[in-house]
Amino acid sequence: MAVFISFEGGEGSGKSTQAEILAERLRNSGLAVEFVHEPGSTELGWHVRDILKRGLLGERAISAEAELFLFSAARAELVLKVLQSFLAQPNAVVIADRYVDSTSAYQGYGRGIPIEQVAVVNALATRGAMPCLTFLLDLPPVNGLTRIGDLQLGFRLDDSILYAGEARAQEGARFEDEPLEFHERVRQGYLELVANEPDRFCVIDATLPERRVSELIWDEVCDRFPELTPVMESAN
Ligand code: TMP
Repeated sequence: MAVFISFEGGEGSGKSTQAEILAERLRNSGLAVEFVHEPGSTELGWHVRDILKRGLLGERAISAEAELFLFSAARAELVLKVLQSFLAQPNAVVIADRYVDSTSAYQGYGRGIPIEQVAVVNALATRGAMPCLTFLLDLPPVNGLTRIGDLQLGFRLDDSILYAGEARAQEGARFEDEPLEFHERVRQGYLELVANEPDRFCVIDATLPERRVSELIWDEVCDRFPELTPVMESAN
């Protein structure tokens, strides 16, 4: 079975950067790494990303329930078409930039859909495929939102392009534009998920410098998955 690691966090937490750094490091160690980004990574996933983040329906106020089902539809597709076959491979690593915990945190705690109902939909979409380790990059929402504003970075629309500045404004920013209280609820929601499953989560202080954050992540991966170490060592 492959090792399945997910990255979670609020806006501007740096989780995508860290997920990519880890993926690259594992690849350089000789491991087969599959990187998935939610929503995205399948055709349906990219359409869902467009609908939700660019307001392609011409309507920003999609209901919370519709939002839950859209993210979950994209995830069901990802699990069936991409994740399942990778997860069956030995000595492989799957890295997910967001997964079910995003749905619990954003649509559950953020939008207010009862968390038990979100859990039912999550279980249906994942068919039980859950990460063995989840990094939560935790930081006060005001820091993350300021970072986004400062950097003027847009979200990715494909694996290779980063849109900046005015492109972001054109695309719209469905979640970044939510009030601060929404992001506070998301953060507290994540911390509650951690309290419920302390063994699966590793909380990282995302206010630390980027380099330090990647070191902490790397140390944790080496500690948790000693079975990968021989592969990593033989490649070095
Ligand atoms: P990001 O990948 O650039 O962070 O953008 C994804 C956005 O979608 C982010 O604001 C969080 C949100 N989201 C949810 O609300 N629910 C979900 O299940 C997922 C995967 C993402």
